[in-house]
Amino acid sequence: MRVLLAGGAGYIGAHTAVALLEAGHDVLVVDDLSNSSAEAVARVEQLTGAKIPFLAADARDVDALTAFVRTHAPVDAVIHFAGLKAVGESVAEPVRYYDVNIGTSIAILKLMAAEGIPTIVFSSSATVYGAPETLPLSEESPTGIDLTNPYGKTKRMIEEILKDAAAADPALRAVSLRYFNPVGAHPSGRIGEDPAGVPNNLMPYVARVAVGALDRVGVFGDDYDTPDGTGQRDYIHVLDLAAGHVAALEHAREGYEIYNLGTGTPVTVLELIAAFERAAGKKIPREILPRRAGDVAASYCDPSKAQRELGWTATRTIDEACRDSWNWQSNNPNGYARA
Ligand code: NAD
Ligand code: WQD
Repeated sequence: MRVLLAGGAGYIGAHTAVALLEAGHDVLVVDDLSNSSAEAVARVEQLTGAKIPFLAADARDVDALTAFVRTHAPVDAVIHFAGLKAVGESVAEPVRYYDVNIGTSIAILKLMAAEGIPTIVFSSSATVYGAPETLPLSEESPTGIDLTNPYGKTKRMIEEILKDAAAADPALRAVSLRYFNPVGAHPSGRIGEDPAGVPNNLMPYVARVAVGALDRVGVFGDDYDTPDGTGQRDYIHVLDLAAGHVAALEHAREGYEIYNLGTGTPVTVLELIAAFERAAGKKIPREILPRRAGDVAASYCDPSKAQRELGWTATRTIDEACRDSWNWQSNNPNGYARA
């Protein structure tokens, strides 16, 4: 298949590009580089030996997308990673989040209809579940419970748009992948997560403490109803996640499907820090802070639908994720900018 990766220069997009190319597919990338670097695409080319057509453009620009796709026709599928993803920022700038996240999705669906592209795989998120009523979370679990931030609402709205589009067009194949907490990096140390500024997420924050760029990790609450009182999450290695996209593309059928992509195994904040200490061979200073607003105590999935229907299962451990994250961070202390 030839696959357009919208947002393909980003963290998950770049790793998925490698997985697709290794599985024998072709990729082309559109990305406005608002949260990424063209260097990531260059490194994917180095890792795979492939030449990747790249368009630096806003994915809301249907005309630019159309010209790009026609130049590289036939394009068989789109994986839609493009969008803004910072939960706190989405509360402060809701209109920008709705504009970019919904706007890119609408533009891509218009492109697909006009150019006869049948398949879309969309980057949804476990965030659509909001505050879980029961664990583990299955695809049947209710969504939108206490969903307080615009970022999560955009993901839920885009899922609804895809469902409606698939109901109206019997030829459309639409898949939403609800990622749990993506972590880790390519074992080569050449591509990885490179958040701008101070990281919001736990793993890149811990990695920056380990490399000496930040003093200590703040642990957001140790009084949750969990084994050690700190928050539990389902951390999935980005290579497992990338493999999940290949499986979703190859199994996509007419209609609309949703899959959880996670390990099913909850890991606490303190367990993750301990795993990173083992990987880096150094102590990670930490400090217990109050709970972070909007956090849930625990979130982890039942991944059995993806296993059953896609033949996919996450195989990598939290120790492997920490090892690969540390390898990336220590080899690229300043990310892609000044490696
Ligand atoms: P990322 O920011 O690294 O990747 C997103 C990419 O989209 C970036 O390269 C950015 O430059 C690009 N982009 C943003 N707006 C664009 C626009 N208007 N036109 C073209 N490109 C645009 O993030 P990621 O972690 O790789 O996440 C990929 C997708 O997965 C996102 O949709 C995100 O919401 C979703 N997701 C991420 C996580 C996570 O924790 N990383 C979890 C669940 C879901
Ligand atoms: C994990 C755990 C924190 C940072 C977010 C988004 C979600 C999805 C993935 C896109 C929690 C604790 C964190 C720190 C800490 N993204 N923590 N100190 O909140 O589960 O999910 O990213 O879709 O939508 O909400 O991930 O990595 O921020 O937090 O103690 O400095 O680590 O409280 O228990 P989260 P996270």
